[in-house]
Amino acid sequence: MINLEMKKRKGIILAGGLGTRLSPISLAISKQLMPVYDKPMIYYPLTTLMLADINDILLISSPDHLNSFKRLLGDGKSLGINIEYASQEKPQGIAQALIIGEKFLNGSPSVLILGDNLFHGNELLPKLESANLKKDGATIFAYPVSDPERYGVVYFNKSGKACSIEEKPSNPKSRFAITGIYFYDDTVISKAKKIKPSLRGELEISSINKLFLQESNLNVEIMGRGMAWLDTGTFDSLNEASNYIRALEKRQGLKIGSPEEVAWRKGWIKDSQLKELGNALKSSSYGKYLLELLKN
Ligand code: DAU
Repeated sequence: MINLEMKKRKGIILAGGLGTRLSPISLAISKQLMPVYDKPMIYYPLTTLMLADINDILLISSPDHLNSFKRLLGDGKSLGINIEYASQEKPQGIAQALIIGEKFLNGSPSVLILGDNLFHGNELLPKLESANLKKDGATIFAYPVSDPERYGVVYFNKSGKACSIEEKPSNPKSRFAITGIYFYDDTVISKAKKIKPSLRGELEISSINKLFLQESNLNVEIMGRGMAWLDTGTFDSLNEASNYIRALEKRQGLKIGSPEEVAWRKGWIKDSQLKELGNALKSSSYGKYLLELLKN
């Protein structure tokens, strides 16, 4: 009998790389564990995946840093999710994460997120939900920026259809940068195995997106002005991201990027588990916040 049941989408967080623009700090700690205001950077993409209803996640990092992530997040059980780990021996491209993740994905559709990408805004949840529901092809997100030459860039024709993708073009055809979250169907693995390294020697994620585009199977969603997609690549942009989070959290008294809160609101953990997590951190404002959630 044919099994027509669709496999649930699984998540991959890529949190390796050398982070050379953040040295000397990155000589000792992973970029994705550096603080963005009151929590490690990795909390933000992890929370984004959880908001998209993804509860089975593979975290990929360099061999040097993998243990630090394990210390921080463990097997995910305390968040009511499953977190597995894999190592990327050398940063040979974002698309390599899919090849490393092949066994973990085991034929499931996937969502890949870069561990240094921070998204925030009202549009986020509906956009993630609708991308998650699309079972065929790929969904990527474009965001207008003032410096598109630093990113993968997508160009739309007059009727708004995506018609080309270029990685870090010196003369960008549009202002739309491709963000670091990618929803794929199960054909992505064979595509990842098909592509060749670029001139800079990396398996480019843009090469995979181009293959979906060629098959007319690429859905490009625009993230509008009401959304924040923040950069964390340099000390200045890291500081700006921290200030953004601090300003919103102080004003609203609500935290952005708390995996414990999302797990609790989704019903993946019970009040008693949230209390335990809060108590373990209760000397920090973060722990106090988790305990406050239970009172309100
Ligand atoms: O942030 C979005 C951009 O990310 C996209 O617009 C581009 O199309 C995409 O190529 C990528 O560009 P970047 O130049 O920003 O990629 P970068 O090399 O900085 O890597 C992004 C993150 O992924 C970074 O935190 C390090 C990690 N990484 C990167 C590579 C190449 C790995 O963990 N392993 C790798 O092999």
